[in-house]
Amino acid sequence: MITAEQQKKLKATAEQMVAPGRGLLAADESTGTCEKKFTKAGIPCTEDTRRAYRELFFTSPEIGKYISGVILYDETIRQSASNGKRFVEILENAGVLPGIKVDQGLKEMEGSPNEKVTKGLDGLPERLKEYAQLGAKFAKWRAVITIGEGLPTDANLKQNAKDLAEYAKHCQEAGIVPIVEPEVLMDGSHDISACRDASERILTALFAALKKADVATDGIILKTNMVVPAKECAQKATPKEIAEATLGVFKKVLPKELVGQAFLSGGQSEEEATENLDAINKKGPLPWKMSFSYGRALQNTALKTWNGKAENVPAAQKAFLHRAKMNSLATLGKYSKAEENK
Ligand code: 13P
Repeated sequence: MITAEQQKKLKATAEQMVAPGRGLLAADESTGTCEKKFTKAGIPCTEDTRRAYRELFFTSPEIGKYISGVILYDETIRQSASNGKRFVEILENAGVLPGIKVDQGLKEMEGSPNEKVTKGLDGLPERLKEYAQLGAKFAKWRAVITIGEGLPTDANLKQNAKDLAEYAKHCQEAGIVPIVEPEVLMDGSHDISACRDASERILTALFAALKKADVATDGIILKTNMVVPAKECAQKATPKEIAEATLGVFKKVLPKELVGQAFLSGGQSEEEATENLDAINKKGPLPWKMSFSYGRALQNTALKTWNGKAENVPAAQKAFLHRAKMNSLATLGKYSKAEENK
């Protein structure tokens, strides 16, 4: 059990993570994921190129204006920039909280091979202790939910909810705010109502599991998907429809003590992710802060612009800061096409 004082601290960190006008940068791609991204862009993937890529983001001028925290990976939380300063220190000096991905990826679920569960509970308390010493203020654990014929199964939702709750409990005991991330995948051709049903089912199971595990709900950040149609669904949805469907589920399921929810982008384009977040916040005031924790939707243009070349760093930083600013406006419901094209 954590003390009231520890809970107060966790809540204060959670509030800082989703403070109005700010959100999170998910820069926690594993080395394998980085390799895939770089190879696609024709950039060699070495420790040095990965360092240069992360340095570009973390040293962007005034990053702290729009970004409250960065999710790091095991390599980057220990890594230093080219000037020898630790990335953690660079972020702290910019007023940005360092966080850490602690799950160890996905594996097939026993008994349901088309569904996944997440690895990483073994030895987690020890790893969290070390990450806290390295400066991590929050952590992330990603579970994925697959929609398909007869999927998701109740067994898969239950297992993922239970693992997320166990992870969250360990984080809070280590003084680290858990980002609790159940992601209903956009893969396939299902429609928005299938996403709504799966989202409602996983979030219901999740909050029941968090309660059962005695996790302090005001000391976590939820990171779930927006309710959207799948990538290959013929029936597209407008930002207004997405906002209504997403908030419809949230109003049924999220407890009022929850401080905030930071969306993943999940395969939406950069502009879609911003427009949809803005549409959600335009429906406010809401009981919870609605922010972002985007990976691809904050980094894609910057990666293309950088292209592995030092001379492109200022232009890539400009592209990243533009997206960060647009999403900052979206957390306030103040985004517009005029701002986008300024
Ligand atoms: P995307 O925004 O690219 O979906 O990444 C966010 C993330 O951290 C997924 O775990």
